[in-house]
Amino acid sequence: MKDFRDIKLSRREFVVAGAASVSAAALPAGAATSATTLPPRTVSPAALRPVASNVSFIVNGQQRSLTLDTRTTLLDALREHLHLTGTKKGCDHGQCGACTVIVDGRRLNSCLTLAVMHEGAKITTVEGLGTPNNMHPMQVAFVKHDGYQCGYCTPGQICSAVAVLDEVRAGIPSHVTGDLNARPHLSPGEIRERMSGNICRCGAYSNIVDAITEVAGSQT
Ligand code: FES
Ligand code: FES
Repeated sequence: MKDFRDIKLSRREFVVAGAASVSAAALPAGAATSATTLPPRTVSPAALRPVASNVSFIVNGQQRSLTLDTRTTLLDALREHLHLTGTKKGCDHGQCGACTVIVDGRRLNSCLTLAVMHEGAKITTVEGLGTPNNMHPMQVAFVKHDGYQCGYCTPGQICSAVAVLDEVRAGIPSHVTGDLNARPHLSPGEIRERMSGNICRCGAYSNIVDAITEVAGSQT
């Protein structure tokens, strides 16, 4: 048998042989041989075709029915199909909260959920909270306390804030609630925690907390 010390490899041959052995070691046993024998994967064109579905929900008190590609997010259904552009697309990845709407009483990032999942739901967007002539108390407080600069995050902030007050009324604790058996007290720390999913790139956070505190005080 040949001793490995007798094997002479050029530098290039050594690198190629080393890479091949590392790849083989990284694969599960048997994979190195079976991978080459798998038949090519075929996807039928029908499987790639978009699938449309009907969905009906109540948006801001109005029954709305749509036929949508099943991949349509609730955010795109609201903005692109119902032209309710108050709800904003910030990141489209569930990271900024600009797309927050209220679905069956709970706040939701509408970019993270498919429209067809909400058959029969009651959806409230910022347009459904108030109008320029008849604003929701939270909208009034945001104006009064200057809770915005560019305003892009504001519809999501306001929808979120309205739902936060409902969560507190329902006794739902947050990560910073001290006593889980007592009704949560809406301290600035509680508000900041509960609103932490709504990012404001203009940094209007302290004024937003003031606005929510005022509305919370007037409702208790
Ligand atoms: Fe939905 Fe940012 S757009 S979380
Ligand atoms: Fe500009 Fe919040 S007001 S991002």
